[in-house]
Amino acid sequence: MKQQLQRLQEEFIASLATIDSEASLKQLESDYLGKKGKLKAILAGVKDLSIEDKKTVGVAANEMKKDFMIKLANKAWEIELAAFAQVESDEAIDVTIGYPSENLGHKHPISHTTELLEDIFISLGFKIEDGPQVEDELHNFDKLNIPHNHPARDVWDTFWISDDVNKNKDIWERLLLRTHTSPVQIRTMMSQELPIKIIVPGRVFRYEQEDARHTCNFYQLEGLVVGEGVTFGDLKWTLDTVMKQLLGEKTELRFRPSIFPFTEPSAEVDVSCQICNWSGEAKGKKCSMCSWTGWVELLGSGMVHPTVLEWCGIDSKKYSGFAFWMGIDRIAAQRFGVSSSRMFYQNKLKLNEQF
Ligand code: PHE
Repeated sequence: MKQQLQRLQEEFIASLATIDSEASLKQLESDYLGKKGKLKAILAGVKDLSIEDKKTVGVAANEMKKDFMIKLANKAWEIELAAFAQVESDEAIDVTIGYPSENLGHKHPISHTTELLEDIFISLGFKIEDGPQVEDELHNFDKLNIPHNHPARDVWDTFWISDDVNKNKDIWERLLLRTHTSPVQIRTMMSQELPIKIIVPGRVFRYEQEDARHTCNFYQLEGLVVGEGVTFGDLKWTLDTVMKQLLGEKTELRFRPSIFPFTEPSAEVDVSCQICNWSGEAKGKKCSMCSWTGWVELLGSGMVHPTVLEWCGIDSKKYSGFAFWMGIDRIAAQRFGVSSSRMFYQNKLKLNEQF
């Protein structure tokens, strides 16, 4: 009988190896361990054995039954894992597959122009800085030498954050939508070591009547250079080099005296109009971009006011600096030959798709 059991075990192991489905596993289980199974059939003969043999065969048969059950359970787990693996591979999504490339869109002309400008400035050794669009009065005005109640504030028509938010704040802490990128000059001078050589491209907001050249939100690119021996000549060279690189070697720059509270002296900078080719006329009509003058005001600039330097903890006897801004929207319009920068904000796909 022991031999019979031995053979049964060998047979079981061999058949188990061929099983690859849950159904055939169930069948195997009932063939061997079921009521009419092979083990039962062998054990039917136990009653004819001696008492001694009955004991040993009984123990051996029990052990074998346990062993079969463990092997069956292991096999069941194996089959289940294989089924999971199959589902996983059948249902896998290939995330690398190509997406149809039509209608993918492309960069907006303003983003494109910003990146072009960034590249030019980086090549000249400038670093890019950023600042909050919701700014406080201190950085947007006071520290830039534009005190509370000073008429100069009227130049920057301001969107204030609601009274609910501002009513319990001190005057210089009141929040507004930044009217220019100049507050980042202050933030940088107050937090960074000299020399400073940065640009700040970013969105600004003005409570303004819209026309061909004005929108209530637009993009500026601020520049600031502070160190020992920085001169107005450096400022002129920088702006001339950048504009020629951006718009072409033939581009002319015109500096006009101007006033900004945070620069002294200050200059407004006009660039020869690219729309009408410096003639004032486009397609026989008055050029609306430059109002028939051949010049567009694209930049503003000046030497950083010594008071501003001192307020930011910089010794104005030892150090000097220049600052400037560019209107990214207007530069984009000039570069792409669009007669009104407002069009960039009107969701005109037909317009944007051309660039
Ligand atoms: N921040 C000023 C404006 O928006 C422009 C400016 C910047 C002028 C830097 C001089 C230097 O009007």
